[in-house]
Amino acid sequence: MSQESILRNFIVFEGLDGSGTTTQTSLLRERLENGGRPCHATFEPTRAPIGTMIRSILGGGTAVTPYTMALLFAADRQEHLYAENGLAALAASGITVISDRYLFSSLAYQSGECGFSSVLSLNANFHLPEILFYLDLDPEICMERIAGRGRQEIYENLAKQKEVYGFYRQALEHFSDTAMRIVRLDGNLPIRELAENIWNYLA
Ligand code: TMP
Repeated sequence: MSQESILRNFIVFEGLDGSGTTTQTSLLRERLENGGRPCHATFEPTRAPIGTMIRSILGGGTAVTPYTMALLFAADRQEHLYAENGLAALAASGITVISDRYLFSSLAYQSGECGFSSVLSLNANFHLPEILFYLDLDPEICMERIAGRGRQEIYENLAKQKEVYGFYRQALEHFSDTAMRIVRLDGNLPIRELAENIWNYLA
């Protein structure tokens, strides 16, 4: 398997913290389910043991080196996709799988400290989704949205979000010639309008 292999029925949402990926994942799931289409919404880092460890590090509970963090995200992803009854099996059975974040988050968030090519090679064996929705929003606006949430995680500061924004661009550019469809959306749009654009694209 290589990064050129596309996992059919697999849709991913990506964007900076506060860009609305979680909201749009859940709105799309609702809409698909209401239309009687079998669907599974999920997220990374996951709720499984490796994802739980990552959440504790993100919360500032424990510190690990940046490369360990990149390895942990990749390990969590490996289980998420390829464990028994993982996403790859679900999507192959015809269920539409929607993930709030995927390997593009690793490229965006871990490349600053680990290097883009190093993160790319750690993630080279994962399937690409059929569609990647990228919610494009300025780092400054993301920071305003995050500030409203109260608690902050280790990547939630303006300098980091600016860096992540740059690496998202590099990641999207890197995959622009693959069979994965990349859809950039204006993250400034009101939630419902954005959801409508996503729905219209899929229709
Ligand atoms: P969340 O806020 O969407 O739940 O995501 C948790 C944080 O983890 C978010 O700041 C993005 C970050 N992240 C990475 O740094 N690398 C990854 O591979 C993934 C999936 C998330």
